[in-house]
Amino acid sequence: MKHNFNAGPVVLPKEAIEATINAIRDFAGTGIGLLEISHRTPGWEKVMAETEQLWRDLLNIPDNYRILFLGGGASTQFYSVPMNLMSKKSAYLVTGVWAKKAAEEAQKLTNLGTVEVVASSKDKNFNYIPKGYTIPTDADYFHITTNNTIYGTEIHVDLDSPINLVADMSSDIMSRPVDVSKYALIYGGAQKNVGPAGVTFVIVREDILKKEKGSLPTMIDYRTHYDKEAPNNNSMFNTPPVLPIYTMYETLKWVKANGGVEGMYKRNVEKAALLYDEIDRNPMFVGTAEKEDRSLMNVCFVMNKGHEDKEDAFMAFAKERGMVGIKGHRSVGGFRASIYNACPIESVKALVACMQEFEKMNG
Ligand SMILES: Cc1ncc(COP(=O)(O)O)c(C=O)c1O
Repeated sequence: MKHNFNAGPVVLPKEAIEATINAIRDFAGTGIGLLEISHRTPGWEKVMAETEQLWRDLLNIPDNYRILFLGGGASTQFYSVPMNLMSKKSAYLVTGVWAKKAAEEAQKLTNLGTVEVVASSKDKNFNYIPKGYTIPTDADYFHITTNNTIYGTEIHVDLDSPINLVADMSSDIMSRPVDVSKYALIYGGAQKNVGPAGVTFVIVREDILKKEKGSLPTMIDYRTHYDKEAPNNNSMFNTPPVLPIYTMYETLKWVKANGGVEGMYKRNVEKAALLYDEIDRNPMFVGTAEKEDRSLMNVCFVMNKGHEDKEDAFMAFAKERGMVGIKGHRSVGGFRASIYNACPIESVKALVACMQEFEKMNG
């Protein structure tokens, strides 16, 4: 049996995979496969509408927010956000490589304004979340990355911000309840907690989109992708990524059937505690992130002092026991176990057992 700890794309609910396979064979009893239908067919419009409703229900998204399903990945949002929102200045919290990339994309748009890096944790290889900084009130927005997929740190609360708060939630969306009303815009690639790669979600409060209509490239302007007069046209200005949206739809149905985001959070806390407790107990391993900022999604650890030479041996040992995707990112080294929503607790228990067995043999 394989235990999938990949960082992204990742393990998805079996139910969502099975439903997608069935839809590819025969979409909604039409006798035609999902990959072969027009996105204008009524059956598809129903999937789009229900997917949007699932997002609204699961995250309690207020009516004045639009939910968009776009292409291009979270990386496209790194420049779409400043193009839509920046007119003089933006502010960024740099907590990892993805946050840094987002700030750098905004920095390229010199015609729109300047970028202030409010705080950074680069001094300690991004192993903590900076605190005690001041958010500049003269900026158009403050951008954060709530979970740092590579370094295993996470902002566990919805911050209070005096200006529009924008969050990249690519790797922790739907892992915990979120007060959406505290954010002006939330975006992310789906390929962790809400589906496969290929669709990007954007949750945007309508009133923040103030730039003159027609002044932005059509596809970049968020307003292109929703239409109050024709709600069936939401995210269908051009051909939407039908297949990943369908799997997202089924993944969200699974989230709902398993206790919603409160249920996910409970499971995630339990899984993360199991693994972090073992890292803290087992003298052969040590966690890399500051304890208070540890991510519930990406658990990063390395061999402890005196055991550094056993890294390859543990990797081989874990691989033999079915562990997949636990190699740490090259900028941190060691190991990273990503334990997103659909990662079963049995997989976490198997990894913990593997660490204990390795200790008995080598400790
Ligand atoms: C936090 C975060 N932001 C952005 C990205 C980039 O996403 P995409 O590949 O969809 O552009 C990733 C990818 O892993 C990520 O983890």
